[in-house]
Amino acid sequence: MQESRIAKHGLMLLGCGKMGSAMLEGWLARGLPPASVWVRDPNPSDWLKSQGVNLNGETPETPAIVLVAVKPQMMGDAVPQLAAMGNGETLFVSVAAGTTIATFEKMLGHQTPIVRAMPNTPAAIGRGITAIVANKHAGSAGLDEAEMLLSAVGEVVRLEDETQIDAVTGVSGSGPAYVFHMIEAMAAAGEAQGLSPEMAMQLAKATVAGAGALAMQADESPSQLRVNVTSPNGTTQAALEVLMDEKSGFPPLLKRAVAAAADRSRELARG
Ligand SMILES: NC(=O)c1ccc[n+]([C@@H]2O[C@H](COP(=O)([O-])OP(=O)(O)OC[C@H]3O[C@@H](n4cnc5c(N)ncnc54)[C@H](OP(=O)(O)O)[C@@H]3O)[C@@H](O)[C@H]2O)c1
Repeated sequence: MQESRIAKHGLMLLGCGKMGSAMLEGWLARGLPPASVWVRDPNPSDWLKSQGVNLNGETPETPAIVLVAVKPQMMGDAVPQLAAMGNGETLFVSVAAGTTIATFEKMLGHQTPIVRAMPNTPAAIGRGITAIVANKHAGSAGLDEAEMLLSAVGEVVRLEDETQIDAVTGVSGSGPAYVFHMIEAMAAAGEAQGLSPEMAMQLAKATVAGAGALAMQADESPSQLRVNVTSPNGTTQAALEVLMDEKSGFPPLLKRAVAAAADRSRELARG
């Protein structure tokens, strides 16, 4: 990990639950020295306590980066305590859903470099995808630094505008849960066709994992991959006629689901 500013000034993690721990694990695995990391969390896990990071003690006055990973509802308590780090060189990177850059600027000062990020939980196994967007004070240098940090847990994409983060939340932020539900529903449908629950679940999980990996690796688009396995009048075509129905299939259903998540993200941002 390219970490000269972090080595010199330190990296602080505010909140180290599921998402914070997933990222910390990725950084440490990539060789970030634990002594450069300061974590603040009221109930540190046993895993966190055994990592050799600085935990809940004195923090550097101006760390290179503060990664904010508390729940949105804790933000108003946790972030203003770091206001002295605002308006300076410390870059704040937030992964919180629904807390806008403007809200951080109000809590930390309007000259504070801020990057807002939306990761997802496959970050825990290094297979996440995170979208990032910066305020003027962070600029492209701040985006480069945030990307360096977040790429420890998966892919990183850059947004043109902060409003796009609601759509990202609807697709990739909340998306893993849609896929988990698809696995549940596929397994239940297999059971209805006479398979044991264990066998149906094993088939559903491996199918989703394998198809996902194939979609990532293949040169063909997902549409072409679908066509490749659909023989005329065959079994797959019979199922796809149900799933691709314009009124009741996946397209209208997922459009409504993603819109509902994006709407909720906008609502959270309004407070
Ligand atoms: N999980 C996801 O899929 C996902 C995806 C995208 C974005 N995010 C964002 O990531 C953020 C964290 O989510 P999470 O799932 O990791 O939540 P989490 O597991 O509850 O982690 C939050 C951590 O922050 C700690 N905390 C609470 N108040 C604090 C304070 N004042 N100072 C320092 N630490 C404090 C919590 O301690 P206690 O448990 O003792 O309260 C907890 O360990 C959220 O803002 C969420 O929107 C999560």
